[in-house]
Amino acid sequence: MPKSSIARQYRVVALPGEGIGPEVVEAALEILYSVARLNGFSVTVDYGAIGEPAYSISGDFCPEATLQLCEDSDGIIFGAVSKGGLLELRKRFDLFANLRPVRTFDSLLDKSSLKTEKLKGVDILFVRELTSGIYFGAAGRDEDEKGAYGYHTMHYYDWQIRRIARVALDKANNRRGLLTIAHKENALPYLPWTRLVTEEAKAFPKVIIEPMLVDNLAMQLVINPQHFDVILASNLFGDILSDIGGAIVGSIGLLGSASLNESGFGMYEAIHGTAPDIAGKGIANPLGTLAGVVLMLEQWGEKESAKSIIETQKRILAKGYRTADLAPQGKEILVNTAELIELFIS
Ligand code: IPM
Ligand code: MG
Repeated sequence: MPKSSIARQYRVVALPGEGIGPEVVEAALEILYSVARLNGFSVTVDYGAIGEPAYSISGDFCPEATLQLCEDSDGIIFGAVSKGGLLELRKRFDLFANLRPVRTFDSLLDKSSLKTEKLKGVDILFVRELTSGIYFGAAGRDEDEKGAYGYHTMHYYDWQIRRIARVALDKANNRRGLLTIAHKENALPYLPWTRLVTEEAKAFPKVIIEPMLVDNLAMQLVINPQHFDVILASNLFGDILSDIGGAIVGSIGLLGSASLNESGFGMYEAIHGTAPDIAGKGIANPLGTLAGVVLMLEQWGEKESAKSIIETQKRILAKGYRTADLAPQGKEILVNTAELIELFIS
């Protein structure tokens, strides 16, 4: 629910990080301030160090001071990092539920390499488990008589699969009612996602469960993206599959995500990385981070503000304004980051 209507005040922690992170975070914040003014709430922002800049000062990619700053805030807006900091944040705040919506924009259908008629109306929500699996299992490098080797272990407690399943089931229940489970049980039978999710689904009788081998799922996403509603995936599978979402909408620069814990506290970010090749040039696409801000507003219950950003964005794109990543052609108009912000707030 939004905070009391007398004084809706939110404290956000911005962690700009590296590469294009600072540019896209600043852009998204400017748009956030603008909708806050229009819709009668206030946002204060504390800045924290993360990634390379944090390391160069403190010798730590994710310093304790940054984590402390995030405590008791109303949300974290995260830019991008290239080496360390992100996984530590996810773990520290138990941000196990990663929501990655993939919705095509009518005016950008030609930006995807997939056929336009396959893309119209695509509206997929990836629900990715974010604090376990192969990212956090036993790992290391060692050596035996056959040589040096490395290993990462895909480890899941059943309760971890069950709790992310409940998030995905709840989302499917409130959407079109289809939940596709990404699994690999023909090769990894001790991770029985289908059975565990199906057991949890008893509490959601309206939701149809569709288990799908993850390799086939990757292919189906390209062949027939309109089929999907909610896709539930483990940490690694969700990472890989959600990048196909970038190909579907035409640029990974458009996608945002929310990473939430049990109490609804979250971190919001674009799903793209640091893009070092264009960093500092003022041409980055801030719409991915802005999509994160929209998810944050929805999480706060500030539905009107979230809607107004989405509508404004649709109008701007329909008029033909494009950042460089969207490779403007013909009548389309190339804009840099500052010009795009101006279109939002003027
Ligand atoms: C993502 C990113 C991260 C991940 C990297 C930067 C560790 O690719 O958020 O999708 O794999 O989770
Ligand atoms: Mg990724």
